[in-house]
Amino acid sequence: MTTPMPLRVPERMLAVEITAPGGPDVLRAVQRPVPRLATGDVLIRVDAAGVNRPDVLQRLGNYPPPPGTSDIPGLEIAGTIVEVEASATRWRPGDRVCALVAGGGYAEYCVAPGVQCLPIPGEMASVAAAAVPETFFTVWTNLFKRGGLQPRERVLIHGGSSGIGTTAIQLAHAAESIVFATAGSDAKCEACRRLGADVAINYRRDDFVDAVRRETSGAGVDVILDIVGGEYFARNIECLALNGRLIQIGLLGGAQASIDLGRVMRRRLTITGSTLRVRTVEEKGELARDLEANVWPLLTSGRVAPVIDRTFPLADAAEAHRRMETSEHVGKIVLTVDHA
Ligand SMILES: NC(=O)c1ccc[n+]([C@@H]2O[C@H](COP(=O)([O-])OP(=O)(O)OC[C@H]3O[C@@H](n4cnc5c(N)ncnc54)[C@H](OP(=O)(O)O)[C@@H]3O)[C@@H](O)[C@H]2O)c1
Repeated sequence: MTTPMPLRVPERMLAVEITAPGGPDVLRAVQRPVPRLATGDVLIRVDAAGVNRPDVLQRLGNYPPPPGTSDIPGLEIAGTIVEVEASATRWRPGDRVCALVAGGGYAEYCVAPGVQCLPIPGEMASVAAAAVPETFFTVWTNLFKRGGLQPRERVLIHGGSSGIGTTAIQLAHAAESIVFATAGSDAKCEACRRLGADVAINYRRDDFVDAVRRETSGAGVDVILDIVGGEYFARNIECLALNGRLIQIGLLGGAQASIDLGRVMRRRLTITGSTLRVRTVEEKGELARDLEANVWPLLTSGRVAPVIDRTFPLADAAEAHRRMETSEHVGKIVLTVDHA
């Protein structure tokens, strides 16, 4: 049930921009024009915006927005639709949605392609809903579509306490896979277990290749979701079972690696990876429909839920980035917008 919202949309809004590549202090709260609708778009009055590691990479100058995308960072938002372009026929002003966007989320208002919006699951609060799109789209498309993870298969999720990791553990557990996770402290490992990890490996104390061998009686895992890359690559290959799949979705440890191709052949391995942001609106729209059918029921029932580490007011985005770069967080960091 939706109600029309007679909200006046201002000409200008608070937004956070990246003034130059660099540390968190390059993030500045500024006034910007409220963005305009293009074909198929809706305008969302933002209540909350998720912070993701790719925003940090963008701030450092290492992850530029795709051509035609807002230079304002922010890949996911939740709020209320206030304007609808005629061809975004699903939505009405007043609808509460969360949306995947290619940029522009750190702002009071943000445009999103209508097909990249999803209804807020059940009674979920805006802060939680804003923490859903980026990691749920990413994990769904990589772990299940690309990696073909099946019930009873073993999956190793690196960075189990990250936004991506906390989502992946829960979705893999809900899919009845056997979940292995790595994390950098005992407290983080405990958090991974609470989310459904069957085995959590503190990689600072325990070599994850040895741990996987030990826990699987030498068989290895069927799927690995990796955000580290670099020297993890060869070690991941060592952990994979026959017909195993390695899915690379991040490069926090570096982009260069060497590989034992013999092992790939002998064990019939598949190595793949993907990025979400550059995909077309049509592809993201298809993913959104897929998520709505397969994952939204889990979110609506509360069986899976985004893990919220901490919130910060929009204007304190620099503090939010500092928090992320400590890597002390578990789950998601979210910016909140006070429209009063
Ligand atoms: N391909 C895609 O479409 C896509 C989409 C979204 C995100 N990503 C990628 O997924 C990764 C995670 O994103 P996120 O937003 O979930 O990140 P996040 O919440 O900031 O978590 C990152 C965590 O990774 C762990 N880590 C392991 N090795 C690391 C290293 N060398 N440097 C920094 N951290 C390291 C840290 O925890 P420990 O204490 O355990 O070390 C850290 O807390 C990023 O690489 C991001 O670019 C990819």
